Amino acid sequence: MNALTRTVALNGGVEIPQVGLGVFQVPSDGARSVVSAALAAGYRHIDTAAAYANEVGVGEALRESGLRRDEVFVTSKLRNGDQGRGTAAAAYADTCERLAVEHLDLYLIHWPNPAAGLWQDSWRDLEDLLDAGRVRAIGVSNFLPEHLEELVGFARHLPAVNQIEVHPAFQQREAVAASTARGIVVEAYSPLGQGSALAASAIGEIAEARGVSPAQVVLRWHLQHGRVVIPKTTSPERMAQNADLEGFVLSPKDMAVIDGLDSGARTGNDPRSFSISQIR
Ligand code: A2P
Repeated sequence: MNALTRTVALNGGVEIPQVGLGVFQVPSDGARSVVSAALAAGYRHIDTAAAYANEVGVGEALRESGLRRDEVFVTSKLRNGDQGRGTAAAAYADTCERLAVEHLDLYLIHWPNPAAGLWQDSWRDLEDLLDAGRVRAIGVSNFLPEHLEELVGFARHLPAVNQIEVHPAFQQREAVAASTARGIVVEAYSPLGQGSALAASAIGEIAEARGVSPAQVVLRWHLQHGRVVIPKTTSPERMAQNADLEGFVLSPKDMAVIDGLDSGARTGNDPRSFSISQIR
């Protein structure tokens, strides 16, 4: 048995597969073959974004898989340049058209982009999409405690998830705590630190002792913390490995060792300052 059938319940009642495939930085033609391989390997959760410019390729793979729409959990995200009051409905429709789906399972605000001061309007738009039954769940990405604090002050619906960068060297404990305290599920992006987490000697030692790979150790650590993970790989062998997480358990000591590796080493952009439009 692999971990691909594990699900986590979101606050609106929707179930999200705990392990998905991320396709950040995968070009559209590559996304078609990568997502096809992932679906063939049993992945049922694909995470993309309008800003990744690969929704068309993801959509082709979904269609070619022959799977029913309700068998695959599909997430995409609103670009910074599409933020504002009344703009998300059209951006959402465009995303669905590129993916060739009627609806998404989860639609996220990609970045708070505080310099623009528009994410609040976009949240109201996403709430409208949810209320209209056009999307199954809505959430945010890269939201820091101050953004969540402000959101709960006016929101009609709380985000189902907060998708943030989390890996052993960058654990974002404040953002994780601010999310989970409000029943918002944490989705870890770059769960392997874009590969950088795999070289840590402490992780290598645990992997050797458990007879698994460093990537499996890191992903299992996330699962035992209750997080959703979207590891990225273009290799079918690694896809299978990254889902093979049920044959071992990390001990409380293993967990504490990995918890102790936080060095504040971010690999992605800083949500406080990231404000490019993301529209090409
Ligand atoms: P590749 O695509 O060549 O497999 P993250 O998900 O944190 O962004 O990490 C993605 C990076 O980690 C990619 O460079 C990917 O390389 C690598 N990677 C993903 N899974 C594995 C694995 N099981 N073993 C080694 N490297 C991996």
